[in-house]
Amino acid sequence: MLICVPNVLSKSDVADFRRIMDECSWEDGRSTAGAQSALVKSNEQLPPDSEIARKLGNRVISALTANPRFISAAVPLHIFPPLFNRYNAADGHHFGIHIDNAVRGDRLTGLRIRTDLSVTLFLSEPDEYDGGELVAEDLYGSHEIKLPAGDLVVYPASSLHMVTPVTRGTRVASFFWVQSMVRDAHARSLIFDLDVAIQALVERLGRDDPETVKLTGIYHNLIRYWAEV
Ligand code: NI
Repeated sequence: MLICVPNVLSKSDVADFRRIMDECSWEDGRSTAGAQSALVKSNEQLPPDSEIARKLGNRVISALTANPRFISAAVPLHIFPPLFNRYNAADGHHFGIHIDNAVRGDRLTGLRIRTDLSVTLFLSEPDEYDGGELVAEDLYGSHEIKLPAGDLVVYPASSLHMVTPVTRGTRVASFFWVQSMVRDAHARSLIFDLDVAIQALVERLGRDDPETVKLTGIYHNLIRYWAEV
């Protein structure tokens, strides 16, 4: 299931990120690619171990952990330090079809995670560039995703996906992986749907409605049943 989360970063945060990133030096994106994806990857990224990438990454993680919809969609156990990339039309940048590596290790922190979920946080507005759609495949076909700056999409890291060639302007994004407490994608999607329904009931009936209280308990008991921590 693909889940979009709006307004993870405010427009002023996005502008601040972009101003900082414009002053950075960028490297070839293939430095973090696996053997197959290196063959189809053509973009630039901030050096992953650089102080500036880590600082911006920590700001992304703070925003994520304060976002109830992201927490509900991902049930995160570990969040990999966010990476930052850009695709320039002038260089014909794109990223052909691939699946992300199953396990990712971070040299600086020693963190090693199973990549259950992939996340793309858009840092360019859709009207700043042409092309550059994230295309992700799931059981229901392939989906094109291009979101406003500050919004993100979460999708199963087991999905084949690609970024179509950017033909005008520049597409800037942050991307990273999550190891979820709930490994099974189907279970995770049931938990998310249940939570969305409960939140709607809370709005309508209040938090102390007896059936809402019971359903909230069932939600937590399902997490307790499925969570690996
Ligand atoms: Ni990928």
